[in-house]
Amino acid sequence: MNPSGRRILVTSALPYANGHIHLGHLVEYIQTDVFVRFQKLRGHRAIYLCADDTHGTAIMIRARQEGRSERELVAAMREAHLADFGGFQIAFDHYGSTDSDANRRLCGEVWKALRSKGLVTSRDVKQLFDPVAGVFLADRFVRGGCPKCHAADQYGDSCEACGAAYTPADLVDPKSTLSGAVPEVRSAEHLFVTIESMHEFLARWTRESDALDPRIANYLAGHFLGEPLRDWDVSRPAPYFGFEIPDATGHYWYVWFDAPIGYLAATSEWCEAHGESFDAWWRPAAGGPRPEIHHFIGKDITYFHTLFWPAMLEAAGLALPTKVRVHGFLTVNGAKMSKSRGTFLLARTWLDHLDPSMLRYYYAAKLSGGIDDIDLDLDEFLQKVNADLVGKVVNLASRTARWLEATGLSAGYPDDGGLFARAAADGDAIAEAFEDCDFARAMRLVMAAADRANAYVDSEQPWKLAKAGPDAAARLQDVASVAMNLFRQIAVYLTPVLPTLAEQVGQLVGGPIRSWDESKRPLAGVPVGRFTPLLKRVEKTQIDAMLAASREEAGKQQHTPQEGGPMTTPPTPPSPQPSADSGEALSAEPLATQCTIDDFTKIDLRVARILAAEEVPEAKKLLKLTVSLGGDATRTVFAGIKGFHDPAALVGRLVVVVANLAPRQMKFGLSEGMVVAASGAGASGVYLLSPDSGALPGMRLH
Ligand code: 2FM
Ligand code: ZN
Repeated sequence: MNPSGRRILVTSALPYANGHIHLGHLVEYIQTDVFVRFQKLRGHRAIYLCADDTHGTAIMIRARQEGRSERELVAAMREAHLADFGGFQIAFDHYGSTDSDANRRLCGEVWKALRSKGLVTSRDVKQLFDPVAGVFLADRFVRGGCPKCHAADQYGDSCEACGAAYTPADLVDPKSTLSGAVPEVRSAEHLFVTIESMHEFLARWTRESDALDPRIANYLAGHFLGEPLRDWDVSRPAPYFGFEIPDATGHYWYVWFDAPIGYLAATSEWCEAHGESFDAWWRPAAGGPRPEIHHFIGKDITYFHTLFWPAMLEAAGLALPTKVRVHGFLTVNGAKMSKSRGTFLLARTWLDHLDPSMLRYYYAAKLSGGIDDIDLDLDEFLQKVNADLVGKVVNLASRTARWLEATGLSAGYPDDGGLFARAAADGDAIAEAFEDCDFARAMRLVMAAADRANAYVDSEQPWKLAKAGPDAAARLQDVASVAMNLFRQIAVYLTPVLPTLAEQVGQLVGGPIRSWDESKRPLAGVPVGRFTPLLKRVEKTQIDAMLAASREEAGKQQHTPQEGGPMTTPPTPPSPQPSADSGEALSAEPLATQCTIDDFTKIDLRVARILAAEEVPEAKKLLKLTVSLGGDATRTVFAGIKGFHDPAALVGRLVVVVANLAPRQMKFGLSEGMVVAASGAGASGVYLLSPDSGALPGMRLH
């Protein structure tokens, strides 16, 4: 069954094998699973591939801490992952492991291609080494003070307070998180992929291929492609849990090298099991049919999937992704998931207390295909799933199925005033929304159909017909038959999101739902089974019990950091935590009167680099700054930040300036702009604004 001839290979990011699946992960797996189930229901050939991401320092360390081998740990975690995924009805066609023979072989093939194209080089790298644990430290295993803003206890690659990106060697007072030892700087040879030689290809592909949302393409252009791409460090010296590089004894492929190749390995294993050709998916003949490749990923790993991965594929002569679909993070109750609040929710904890279908529906109703974060607001969740799924969808059947148990559906589909036809006509719009991963829109359209169906039942009042005796029996059968058909039609549309509900509906009336087209034709003259409650209302007590269990669980869990890259995506700003911020600053200085967008665009805010900073001895508050807007454009600005910033530490830093402010003659010289800084009640400082790393002097703020 593949009338369109579309062949669609879909992946989710491979979860690390050193941690359990949590609700943040599930945003992605549920999203991908819905997409794949939708494609299958439409009759396309779709396969959903994934695997555990098993290699790297993090696994090695956790295995040591638990006193077992890495492979034992990986095997145990695989079982746990598969149980969690199964619980949430994530239906992979194949679930592999990056620690597999297929992956080793494919890593070797890609490596050979990179070598033969002269894309591999080597040089010594200074890396922090934990002398007590005896391992080189991945960036995430070192913590210390931020070299930029001096915030204490920051990761080795980026600062959560100010967003700066740096290397662990830059940290102030670094400590290994493994042993607490002060790390030593040691030098070791590393192998690099000279990705800059593929710059032109990447600039073109990111812009022109249609694989990326334009916002992602702009982000890449602004953060990376505006300057030469740094060589990618793809090896780690022993000891390291991974694959030893065949032509470089003692060197191992870095986990982020072999992880995406895991997509290829999973394909290879699936092909092997199904008698299919790997090449038909990843090396389609020129001019022949091209399968689609869709990668679903979180925004934090954009860099790997939109620059390194396409570069590797291109170098190895493999197919490039049709789409890299990037989603945002999950917040719970408006804030980052928190162990102390019990909102760092594991998949398992949810399954112990709540119905997985409810989360699938809630996520679907929130996901619109963009990169914005989504919030799981547990009060809203309770209200929404009860209102939509129990109150609107299941209610349709619970109010009408019993009248049909003896008779089945009417022999011909009765006049319903055009309701079925209207919802059938919406099918294309619903399908389009699913195709675009705008599940929120799809759910809105489906719930609108459910509202219309319920309004029909309300107005026809079958319970009154039931009391009216045999004269009304035929009418009762017709009304109930319309309601059951509208119910089943809605269930067809919801099948990708709620496969269990769809199955139960199939048992109740009409048999298994196998195709989207079943939403187009009403059923007539078929039996109706005995109605049993299909979904139970969520109770507040269940949510409270889950949060309590999660808090308790969090107390027991150890925290194992994940592998970061040498150049991971610049950190996304931490999610706001509204409850933690007082309103003091805002109430001390109420908002200015409203302005228009035209007012705003009159102010030309630009990124600038501070070239020189000196004190103005005669002025109490002023520093004299020379800033560059890029090229030869410089400005002198007198900024009221003396006493809050050491002039020497400002040199080189990026700031934001009002670049079109009329020059002002001051006692000490001409001021040709203004540097943007925050101040106000709640703190006594003056805080300069910094753009995320990657921004360049001259860029305008919009
Ligand atoms: O960020 C992560 O969780 C990684 N384990 C994802 C790897 S995706 C792919 F490249 F393998
Ligand atoms: Zn900082």
